[in-house]
Amino acid sequence: MSPTLPLALIYGSTRERRFCDIVSRWTKTQLDRHPDFATDVIDPAVLHLPDRHADEPSPALVALGRRLGRADAFVVVTPEYNHGYPAALKFLIDSFSAEWRAKPVAFVSYGGVSGGLRAVEQLRLVFAELHAVAIRDSVSFANAWEQFDASGRLTNGRAAEQAMARMLASLAWWATALRAARKARPYEEVVA
Ligand SMILES: Cc1cc2nc3c(=O)[nH]c(=O)nc-3n(C[C@H](O)[C@H](O)[C@H](O)COP(=O)(O)O)c2cc1C
Repeated sequence: MSPTLPLALIYGSTRERRFCDIVSRWTKTQLDRHPDFATDVIDPAVLHLPDRHADEPSPALVALGRRLGRADAFVVVTPEYNHGYPAALKFLIDSFSAEWRAKPVAFVSYGGVSGGLRAVEQLRLVFAELHAVAIRDSVSFANAWEQFDASGRLTNGRAAEQAMARMLASLAWWATALRAARKARPYEEVVA
């Protein structure tokens, strides 16, 4: 059966020589193994997004908005920067509103000892403001650079794969339920 749920996988870091590439590629591989999701990879580092909010959205932002609008689910891959998440990710999130509404968001995080969990807790608050549903279970990599080998493979992937499976099961349930609910009654009618 072909995948039925369009999902946007969003890179949280735009830093040069970022570790985000490795974690996001692993995440994409996991998503590709899941029967329900068709993944659109959104990497703000290559999208030529503006560096500040403007009155008129740039063509790149408009195009990105269409891609996010098509998604029924999101997975955000984020590192932790000073107990928060990167500014580039905040800009991407704040550039849209209806695109997030009544849709589920799941998180894959990485960093030092905290595994990026403090960044994820902040993102839960941000997405609540946007009427998105944050998935309880997440995947996190503490001291991430010790967990992947030189070719980007997890040296001991079992726990992470299990956590990912739990997270994606929940994400698929919410994505299916919320898509039906949005169809039955557009969420804009509720929040208007
Ligand atoms: C500006 C900055 C702040 C950071 N702050 C934290 C932090 O508070 N906690 C943590 O665990 N790691 C922190 N780190 C380490 C990052 O989580 C780690 O370098 C990670 O690889 C960054 O993601 P990236 O390489 O994809 O940009 C910080 C890194 C940077 C560049």
